[in-house]
Amino acid sequence: MTVLVLYATIEGHTRKIAERAAAKLEEAGQAVVLGDVREPGFAIPGRFDGVLICAPIHIGRYPSSVAQFLIDWKHALAQVPTALVSVSLAIHSESAEERAEAESYPAKLEKKTGFHIPKVHHAAGALKYLEYDFFKRALMRQIAAKEGGSVDTSVDHEFTDWAALDAFVQNFADDVALAEKA
Ligand SMILES: Cc1cc2nc3c(=O)[nH]c(=O)nc-3n(C[C@H](O)[C@H](O)[C@H](O)COP(=O)(O)O)c2cc1C
Repeated sequence: MTVLVLYATIEGHTRKIAERAAAKLEEAGQAVVLGDVREPGFAIPGRFDGVLICAPIHIGRYPSSVAQFLIDWKHALAQVPTALVSVSLAIHSESAEERAEAESYPAKLEKKTGFHIPKVHHAAGALKYLEYDFFKRALMRQIAAKEGGSVDTSVDHEFTDWAALDAFVQNFADDVALAEKA
């Protein structure tokens, strides 16, 4: 019985989230395969008993590799527990409008792919000012000012609620275990 934890990442934070999720699933007794969604060879049918996808929002959308994966495997994914961890800055915003925008991204992904995502967890992402180049730092400072992130560019910021992520992953592990018994 194996769970596939797939991630897409541009700045590395979603990989960290996926690694944490994979470790939690292993603690819950699942065998786990962790991988980047762009790597080939993650054919689902008959191989995985659950799939957890972790994907960040960059300029208002998920990486196209995530949408492509859902399009390619939607029929197989519909046969096993599948969930999405959506990583964004806007979900951390004090503005209800910004949070609603973050909450709307999974539905847009569903519309684009034709795949219904049964369970979604919204995780706040990170601002890695020290790793950005000059232009990205300026852009991200602007986005952060709008979306409730810190504008102090002298340090990196991590907004993820790890306990909330753990609880979601435990719930997903329970879904997989239940489906295995059925
Ligand atoms: C260039 C860039 C654009 C971003 N655009 C958005 C955005 O439109 N909405 C949002 O909520 N977060 C946005 N973010 C925040 C990311 O979702 C957050 O930094 C996340 O942790 C990035 O994940 P990654 O490190 O796995 O790439 C953006 C981040 C970067 C670097």
